[in-house]
Amino acid sequence: MLSRNCFLIGFPGAKVPTGILMLICHAGDSSNRQAWLLKNKSKIRSIGFLWDLREPLPKVRSKNKDAIRAALPKDRERLGKIVVEAYLPEWSWWVRQMGGKERARADLMSYVDEFLRDRKKRIFVAEEGEKIVGLCGAAIYNRRTGTIGYGVAVLPGFRRKGIGSMLLLAAFEWLKKASVRFVTLEEETSGFENKDTPAIFLYKSLGGKIISDQPASR
Ligand SMILES: CC(C)(COP(=O)(O)OP(=O)(O)OC[C@H]1O[C@@H](n2cnc3c(N)ncnc32)[C@H](O)[C@@H]1OP(=O)(O)O)[C@@H](O)C(=O)NCCC(=O)NCCS
Repeated sequence: MLSRNCFLIGFPGAKVPTGILMLICHAGDSSNRQAWLLKNKSKIRSIGFLWDLREPLPKVRSKNKDAIRAALPKDRERLGKIVVEAYLPEWSWWVRQMGGKERARADLMSYVDEFLRDRKKRIFVAEEGEKIVGLCGAAIYNRRTGTIGYGVAVLPGFRRKGIGSMLLLAAFEWLKKASVRFVTLEEETSGFENKDTPAIFLYKSLGGKIISDQPASR
């Protein structure tokens, strides 16, 4: 997920925008967060990924290919219904830290709004029937670089069907058409010291190269 606060500074060692986990950044100022960070400091790692879009991306099979599309303003309400649930259960600690689902939802929706408004940012959604079951955000940073700036998340009941992969590939295609070559993403993991989150497996399976891996330094 993306935080405005972190968009330009979160990627370790470089002035490029971050992907996901900026949740943590954004949760920023609370004393709860400080306490949580102190307790879990050794467990939080920040893992940077890079894709070079000149390299061929893997072919992914999915029954849902036709259902991936760019989100429109009219999707806002439906996004609002799933935006928190799609990050659960992996991010339940963050939801707790934010003070519950409704606060977490409000926080996430501020980014959804920003992404729906800004022409250099885009949310891709996966639909099954009338239901939005997954989302992924992408942002053009400058002429040659972009980021998966809103993470990728699929509702728990719809995982391992290729939807996360198709969402990411749609984002890569859009970035590539905009002449972006390098795509960054920063994944912050909590309690997964062996890089064993589904997201890490997903990024690796799509050819993402780990370019940094360090304890989170917030
Ligand atoms: C990460 C996430 C988006 C993956 O979505 P998905 O639709 O299940 O992903 P895919 O079906 O496209 O998986 C593609 C590949 O990723 C890897 N993968 C995905 N989930 C995995 C898991 N739980 N365990 C191991 N590998 C996994 C596999 O290699 C998989 O290919 P395979 O199913 O052929 O083995 C989903 O688990 C999720 O929404 N998690 C919570 C949100 C989150 O943490 N997002 C990332 C940070 S914001």
